[in-house]
Amino acid sequence: MMKRTHMCGELRQNHNGQSVVLAGWVNTFRSQGKGLLFIDLRDRDGMTQLIFDLEDADEEIVQLANGLRREDVIAVRGEVRAKDKPNPKLSTGEIEVLVSELEILNKTEKPPILPEDHEAEQVAEDVRLKHRYIDLRRPRMQHMLRTRHQVAMSAREYFGTEGFLEIETPCLIKSTPEGARDYIVPSRIYPGNWYALPQSPQIFKQILMVAGCDRYMQIVRCFRDEDPRADRQAEFTQIDLEMSFVERADVMEVVSDFVRQLWRNVVDVQIGDIPTMTYKDAMERYGIDRPDLRFGLELSDVSDLAGKTDFRVFTEALEEDNGVVKAIRVPGGAKQLTRKVIDKYNEFVKTFKAGGLPSVKLTENGFETGIAKFVAPIGDALKEQLSLEVGDLVFFAADTWSIVTKALGELRNQLGRDLELIDEDAWNFLWIVDFPMFEYDDEAGRWVALHHPFTSPMPDQFDILESDPGACISAGYDLVCNGSEIAGGSIRIHDRKVQQRVFELLGISEEEAEQKFGFLLKALRYGAPPHGGIAFGLERIIMQMIGRDNIRDVIAFPKTLNGADLMSEAPGPVDEAQLEELCVQVTLPSN
Ligand code: AMO
Repeated sequence: MMKRTHMCGELRQNHNGQSVVLAGWVNTFRSQGKGLLFIDLRDRDGMTQLIFDLEDADEEIVQLANGLRREDVIAVRGEVRAKDKPNPKLSTGEIEVLVSELEILNKTEKPPILPEDHEAEQVAEDVRLKHRYIDLRRPRMQHMLRTRHQVAMSAREYFGTEGFLEIETPCLIKSTPEGARDYIVPSRIYPGNWYALPQSPQIFKQILMVAGCDRYMQIVRCFRDEDPRADRQAEFTQIDLEMSFVERADVMEVVSDFVRQLWRNVVDVQIGDIPTMTYKDAMERYGIDRPDLRFGLELSDVSDLAGKTDFRVFTEALEEDNGVVKAIRVPGGAKQLTRKVIDKYNEFVKTFKAGGLPSVKLTENGFETGIAKFVAPIGDALKEQLSLEVGDLVFFAADTWSIVTKALGELRNQLGRDLELIDEDAWNFLWIVDFPMFEYDDEAGRWVALHHPFTSPMPDQFDILESDPGACISAGYDLVCNGSEIAGGSIRIHDRKVQQRVFELLGISEEEAEQKFGFLLKALRYGAPPHGGIAFGLERIIMQMIGRDNIRDVIAFPKTLNGADLMSEAPGPVDEAQLEELCVQVTLPSN
């Protein structure tokens, strides 16, 4: 095989006249009269135009070159020539390579897809996933893989410099509930016993702090047996951190600094200071704990005014426990949003349990359409509270606080997308803090941890832990980027007694706690330092950096929405003998 001298994205005018050897895939070929054959040769670095002068070439090259097909693998030797007319679309567009030697390294069968970005994006995703080795040849996917690599390198460099040690934690662990369902693995040596794959290294990184490691980081695979979504995979990667002798502000400071460096290094974006918002504020004003502040459309509580109307939907909602009426002002919405579109949003909010979406338009003649007649008596006060202008539309939701908040929060995001209010070039980073420790799960009839059960209350909240769990604020924090939760963490409980109090509140009995996380509780007895940490979803970072909404586009070998790997055909059956050795019997559901 000829020894490669350059990559396909590398040659420029200053290489003019040099003899070079390139290797790669035939991206496209085109023969032109006068015995010329043009080939775009591609590797992961880019594309170079090759020219075969078939009239001057020897018979063997002519034959080989004429037989080339897209995606054949070749190596060529040739001379770099400056082009008369540069091709501005290619980074190597100033030159071409006149081929004198051609070596066919491998012929391809007819490829089921071609690695052109614009073509592949039209192909069904299943086909791309099945033939991922071709899909990944695309420039866009290579860019994604490179970005992932740069983020990982940058994280290791930053945290290494800051005194963090990268320490691996095990993949076969004890099943310790963290919120999602575990993937479990049978043990051959201990028949009837099971390992679990870690949902995150949470307990191990805390134990590393007890072990005196002080600052830990790991780029680590996590496994959660939950249904995949656009931003969620069963198998994903975290940049995971833990620090000793820190308070909330210390972790947030290190992480903010890392994020600034990461965005500067990888995508050349200057972020500046990252503001902080409380959970309550985020929920009240944006209806979600990861608000996208690249656009406005804030929610306003108009319960006081709504209570003065005769509109039964409002007044009845306000009589409920936690009943509220909230509104969103849509500037210019009176013209922009037709009856049909408003009806569509009405149906949309119903999917979040809201009864409907009353609306009203402010025109030059005053309030019109929808619930205008009910709004008229409170018109002036409403105009003032929402700073309404002629041409605006107002949406209302009336129900319990949690339903109204959820429905309007989702509506706000939908409106932001539909009305194209989001500045795609802007970056919005935001810390969310002061989360409640617990949420009451009505169905289960008990408190559940909003973060995880190892999250500490804020230092001034220990006293109300039992007396008012619903009001107790945690030392948790989330980092939000453009409306996506890219990281989440907390200061942990390092006092075993406090940990036990929290377990009790969560309805985890002493025996259960002992059985499930006994090893953590034991470690906490032996000199656990105060500690806290955070984990980034690596895929969420990449999705933001390269502007993709689908997590499968930022993972080399992702699973489908049904959790399958179409290329390797996992999950698949195993031999009966394997099952016997593991003492596992399969009972399939009868239907
Ligand atoms: P948490 O569960 O919030 O915290 O996860 C941390 C971050 O990981 C990302 N993430 C995911 N990304 C893709 N697919 C998933 N299924 C998925 N689940 C989570 C999110 C999230 O912010 N041990 C704690 C961290 C800590 O407290 O230090 C934990 O795992 O970006």
